[in-house]
Amino acid sequence: MFFRSKVAGVGSFLPEKVLTNYDLEKMVDTSHDWILQRTGIERRHVVDENEGTSDLCVRAANNALKDANMTVDQIDLIMVATVTPDYKMPACACLVQAKLGAKNIMAFDINAACSGFIYGLFIADQFIKTGAYKNILVIGAENLTRLLNYKDRDTCILFGDGAGAFILSQTSATDENYLMTAHAHAEGAHAELLWSKGGGTRYPISQQVLDDGSHYMQMKGKEIFKNATRTMATACKEALAAINKTAADIDWIVPHQANLRITEAVANQFDFPMARIVSTVHETGNTSAASIPIAFDMAYKDGRIKRGQLILLTAFGAGLTSGSAILRF
Ligand code: UT7
Repeated sequence: MFFRSKVAGVGSFLPEKVLTNYDLEKMVDTSHDWILQRTGIERRHVVDENEGTSDLCVRAANNALKDANMTVDQIDLIMVATVTPDYKMPACACLVQAKLGAKNIMAFDINAACSGFIYGLFIADQFIKTGAYKNILVIGAENLTRLLNYKDRDTCILFGDGAGAFILSQTSATDENYLMTAHAHAEGAHAELLWSKGGGTRYPISQQVLDDGSHYMQMKGKEIFKNATRTMATACKEALAAINKTAADIDWIVPHQANLRITEAVANQFDFPMARIVSTVHETGNTSAASIPIAFDMAYKDGRIKRGQLILLTAFGAGLTSGSAILRF
C-alpha cells in the first residue's frame, strides 16, 4: 500500500504589535530608505511581553485546523520548526501539544533555522508515506525579536515574529494534489556565518557572554547573502529535476522571505517572473522558519495561490541549511 501526503490546511498568525522602519530610526543609526532599498522590508510584527513562540504556534495551528475543517484530536504528530523555542527544554512542540489540547501524541522541534519548515515537510512526508501517521501538524514559528541586539543595526532591522502551519494528511497514491518532492541540505562548515554563539552549552550564560552580547544573533550579512542566492537556486533546480519539470511549469515560487534582493537574484537565475513569486517581506521582515508558511497563507487567503496549482518552496538559513519542495496544492 502506497500513500501520498497532501496539504489539507494552511494557517498563520502575526502578532498585533508592529515595528516600522521609522521606529527603528529612533533606536539605531539607520533609515527607512536604507532598509527599504537594501531589503524590501517596511515593517515587522513583534510579540508583546505576554506572548511566547508556543502561543504564536497555537494561533497558526488553530487557523490551519479551521482551514482543513479538522479538529485537534485528528492530529497524530506535531512538529515545530524553530530556533526560538520558549525554553531550551522541553521542546516547544510539547507546549503546543498541551495548549492545543491534543491527545498524547509525538511532538518534537526541528532546529534547521530558516529552512526548518521545509525540513518539517520532508520529515512529515516520510511518516505519511509509510502509513505511520495520517495527519501531521507542521508549524514554523519564531520569536526572533527576543534574540536580537537592538544596538546592532546589521541584524536588528531584518527580523520579525510570527508563525505559520500546514496540516499534511494522508491521501491515496492516485491523488494528483500532493507533496511531489522535498530536499534538504546542510553545510555545517559555515556555521559561524550566522549564529547565536553564547548561551548554549559550549559557552554557557556568564557575565562574559552578557558583556560580549554573544547570546544575540550574529551574522556576516554579505556572505550570507551570497550563500542564500547560490543554495536556494541550486535547491530549486534539484526539486524541478526530481519531478522532471521546468520553472515554466511552476505557478508560484514561495521562497524564504529574507530580503527582496535575494528573492530577485534567485528569480533571475531561472528567468522566473517576480509577478509569480510570493513576497511578503515588506510586511513581516525575516521570520526564519515561519516565513514560508506565513507567505503561503497570505497568498492563499488573498486568492493568488489556488488549489490545484504547482508551487515551489525554497529556503536557506543558519547551519547553513537549505531546502526545496514542490507540491500540487
Ligand atoms: O534568513 C537568512 C538570514 N539572513 C539574510 O538573509 C541576510 C542576508 N544579508 C543581507 O540581506 C544584506 O547583506 C544586508 C541587508 C544585511 C546588508 O546589505 P548590504 O547591501 O550587504 O549592505 P552592507 O553590509 O554592504 O553595507 C553597506 C553600507 C555600509 O556602509 P559603507 O561602508 O558603505 O559606508 C554599512 O555600514 O550600509 C551600511 N549599513 C547600514 N546603513 C543603515 C549597514 N547596515 C545598515 C543599516 N542602516 N541597518
